[in-house]
Amino acid sequence: MKRLILPLLAALSIVLYAQELRVIPYPQYMQADEGMYAPEGGVQTLYTDLKGSDRKELLDYIATTSLPLKVVKKQSKAHVRLLLDGLDPSFTQPEAYRIEITPQGADLYACDVRGLFYGWQTLLQLDGQSLPAGTGEHSLPLVKIFDQPRLQWRGWHMDVSRHFFDKEFIKKQLRMMARYKINRFHWHLNDNEGWRLQIRQYPRLTDSTAYRPQRLWEDWGNAGRRFCSAKAANAYGGFFTQNDIRDIVEYARKLHIEVVPEIDVPGHSRAITAAYPNLSCTGRAYENDVLCLGNEETFTFVTNILTEVIELFPYEYLHIGGDEADRSHWARCPKCQTVMQREGLHEVSELQSWFTRRLEDWLTAHGRKLLGWDEIMEGGLSPRATVMSWRGVQSGIEAARDGHDVVMVPWQCYLDNAQDDPTTEPRGVGGYVPLRTTYAFNPVPDALNETQSTHILGLQGNVWTERIATNSHAEYMIYPRICAIAENGWTWPENKSWERFYTFALDEVDYLHAQGYNAFNLAAEKGDREEAQGMIEHLALGHTPVYTHQPSPKYPAHGVGTLTDGERGSYNYQEGQWLGFENEDLEATIDLDSLRDLHEIYADFMQRADQWIWLPSAVIISASNDGENWQILSNEPWQVDYDDPTIRFQRFGWQGTTTARYIRFTAKASGRTGGWLFTDEIVIK
Ligand code: ACM
Ligand code: ZN
Repeated sequence: MKRLILPLLAALSIVLYAQELRVIPYPQYMQADEGMYAPEGGVQTLYTDLKGSDRKELLDYIATTSLPLKVVKKQSKAHVRLLLDGLDPSFTQPEAYRIEITPQGADLYACDVRGLFYGWQTLLQLDGQSLPAGTGEHSLPLVKIFDQPRLQWRGWHMDVSRHFFDKEFIKKQLRMMARYKINRFHWHLNDNEGWRLQIRQYPRLTDSTAYRPQRLWEDWGNAGRRFCSAKAANAYGGFFTQNDIRDIVEYARKLHIEVVPEIDVPGHSRAITAAYPNLSCTGRAYENDVLCLGNEETFTFVTNILTEVIELFPYEYLHIGGDEADRSHWARCPKCQTVMQREGLHEVSELQSWFTRRLEDWLTAHGRKLLGWDEIMEGGLSPRATVMSWRGVQSGIEAARDGHDVVMVPWQCYLDNAQDDPTTEPRGVGGYVPLRTTYAFNPVPDALNETQSTHILGLQGNVWTERIATNSHAEYMIYPRICAIAENGWTWPENKSWERFYTFALDEVDYLHAQGYNAFNLAAEKGDREEAQGMIEHLALGHTPVYTHQPSPKYPAHGVGTLTDGERGSYNYQEGQWLGFENEDLEATIDLDSLRDLHEIYADFMQRADQWIWLPSAVIISASNDGENWQILSNEPWQVDYDDPTIRFQRFGWQGTTTARYIRFTAKASGRTGGWLFTDEIVIK
């Protein structure tokens, strides 16, 4: 019976979703009736009681949308009415709105222009839809909607340093972000690969480190990571003038998107130390990518930059980076050591904290809030800092428990990962984060109580561009996953539904393509690694191996039984089926409890060069009847290609005929210090 019902329910739900009104992110409450409001000649006129600049800006915006209604002075003459107020008192947020569409017309209510703006986004998506499906343009379905966001921070992050993305690209994406009610644009403006923001006081930043002779990040890395002037042959890069910045900030403001600039210090600072070598610990350019924190000029330099940044960006948050600083330089630097002694700092992480705290005091004195990557917690977190938790959610949980605000951006939010088979997708950072995985991410961890949860401001989708060199590739990585980010931030978990979202996202991709955005073609998605899609039956199932070297506690998967549990890993080594060995061979001995006839033994290994995960340098499979006398069944050496940047999955094994009770499966580590071996199952048949 069960077998019949499940497919039936699935089929029914597809029919239901096909008939549901399609809105992304999904509203908190939406009740649709059959039929539509379709006045003669279509929906054409609009009335609003908004006043002043809000009125002008919203009407100007509406004129650019796909529903460019004519404004009328009399409410009774309007097809659509945008009215302040009229909200249920439980809808308290400035982004809240209510829509009521009846055979008499469409009313949109909000207590703030932001609510009207978001209600408008919903109307734009509803235009032309109705139950049952299929109508012309500029008719509106009969529906009641109450809506407001779950979380206040729903962001898109863009790295314009590793490759340069210009003003028109940014504006084009911001227009689409507004459709999904995204309200933050985190702009990663500097990194080792280029400085992208004009600073009047430090012209060398853009004069000497905004361009490079190689277009592709990898070519630049291989060629020695040098910058060049804009006039040099083959110069690639660019920067935003302060006028460009003002233009984009204003453009975003009209879309109700706050721009959060990031000046990433003290790590990721190769462009800075190339332009101003005195700010590195050695005083020489190109030697490292870390600022010298023992040099008081560094603090002056950064705060001078922030002074100009503050003039350009009117919002409370400034992101100061703080991630991945190679602190070892400070341990060797006399200036850094002097400051550590003077300040009583014992660890180099405390030196970074000391610097971050000074920046925070400075920002507070200038009326701004400090935001940084979760490394700013190491060595002691500044009292008022907000944390962007990117190395998983644990730092975010700790920060929220300590009363800090947090934006969650773990790997599920890293849109530089492949969204389909990473062995065939355009190259990204190397991982695998399909739409479903991004959608499943809940930015408010269950581990937090109600009060702590209020510190989770929200989440964002991060686009890092080491391997994303073109506009079309960037769009491919952004869409449709940013829709999942948006819904995770906007829609309460109980109002989310993967099945519904997926069917909507399929249509949304068509819409994006029609609008000239190179979205990933969701309809052609291949899905996860075939091996990961079901259990495998084999003789070793449940026979927990004995390991000569224990797996790393960093990648314990499901413990020592992982390799004989019948479950195999996805494309993503972080998802709990891949057992990791750090610097060690895998040597697993399996007791099958009795003599068995054997004809096949194998395991799959992963290579991901960017994460130092290598295939084994040899796989040796032995068999024994008594656990003492061993016979080698196969010994397969493998030449590890450390330069192969593609993600690879490779099977090593034996086929033949033998009888044995014990199997020893040995995979030799690659021999690179710090390297990893990852495997998911030892299959014995
Ligand atoms: C980061 O991905 N380095 C914040
Ligand atoms: Zn130093």
